[in-house]
Amino acid sequence: MNRKSFLKVGALTGVATAMLGRTAAQSATKLSGPVVVSTWDAGLRANKGAWEVLGAGGNALDAVEKGVMVTENEINCCVGLGANPDRDGFVTLDACIMDHRFNCGSVAFLERIKHPIAVARRVMEKTPHVMLVGDGAQQFAVSEGFPLEPRELSPDAKKAYKKWLENSKYEPQINRENIENKGHGPFAPAQIDGEWNHDTIGMVGIDANGHLAGSCTTSGMGFKMRGRLGDSPIIGAGLYVDGEVGACTATGQGEDVIRVAGSHSVVEMMRQGFGPEMACQKVIERIVKIKGDDVKKIQVAFIAINKNGVVGAFAIHKGFSYALKTNTSEVLVKAKSWFN
Ligand code: GLY
Repeated sequence: MNRKSFLKVGALTGVATAMLGRTAAQSATKLSGPVVVSTWDAGLRANKGAWEVLGAGGNALDAVEKGVMVTENEINCCVGLGANPDRDGFVTLDACIMDHRFNCGSVAFLERIKHPIAVARRVMEKTPHVMLVGDGAQQFAVSEGFPLEPRELSPDAKKAYKKWLENSKYEPQINRENIENKGHGPFAPAQIDGEWNHDTIGMVGIDANGHLAGSCTTSGMGFKMRGRLGDSPIIGAGLYVDGEVGACTATGQGEDVIRVAGSHSVVEMMRQGFGPEMACQKVIERIVKIKGDDVKKIQVAFIAINKNGVVGAFAIHKGFSYALKTNTSEVLVKAKSWFN
């Protein structure tokens, strides 16, 4: 594929693949030139932010940082300081970032800092470490000039927390009606009492030089135990990039992504020759097998891009969409899923 002949190949579609007694029609869109893809509807706006960099010939790392900062700035249930708090009423944030050369940085359990993704990048670039957590991460952020924001919950979060306190019960499970009819993502209208209540903005992209990068940022599960971390700040779980192979990021029930080293596993599947969509499907299949009946209670989805700019995604349940942007297109794509 010539990178300069832009947006050509519509589809490598229709490769029927039998897996565990089911047949999955695999489709993928192969693109050349810059591509950015991110999770959920909020990804449309995040992609625009990333495109300010990619469209001007900038690099993928800057793009994925800038892109998810758009979502960190918005008020939503699950990303940034406006998001739902933990069960003690505090918003704690997790984020990580990775480039095509295995450089990576991460922050977790970070409080009162508006842009955890930017702090994760500073960890990557200015410390000998990969990961900083809690007070240490906050101290580092402040030393780097990030302002300490007030502890104040957003009005939406206050309301949701008050409602949650009525029962003080967290049950990560899917409300199918909510997902299928209202869509869900960071702006899901209801996030408590049995309704799906968390997800993440994850973004992977490739720039005009063919360099890959990825980012991932979240407040994690709403009303989580204090100190709980999900997959999002964990390199290999919520995000992984191998510049010679591809990149992947995850959204959904972090515990079950961590169990299978989700994003790393997807990239390894691509290394073995699977296209991005099938690579995502293979790892979803693994989670489905591990969870047994409990799989009905959780959602996990992966989005992936390979070094040729081919994009793919797969989820456990239907309702997951991802946003894709290239030089010539800007779309929200419904991902295929294990259960339909
Ligand atoms: N995937 C985000 C989390 O579980 O925290």
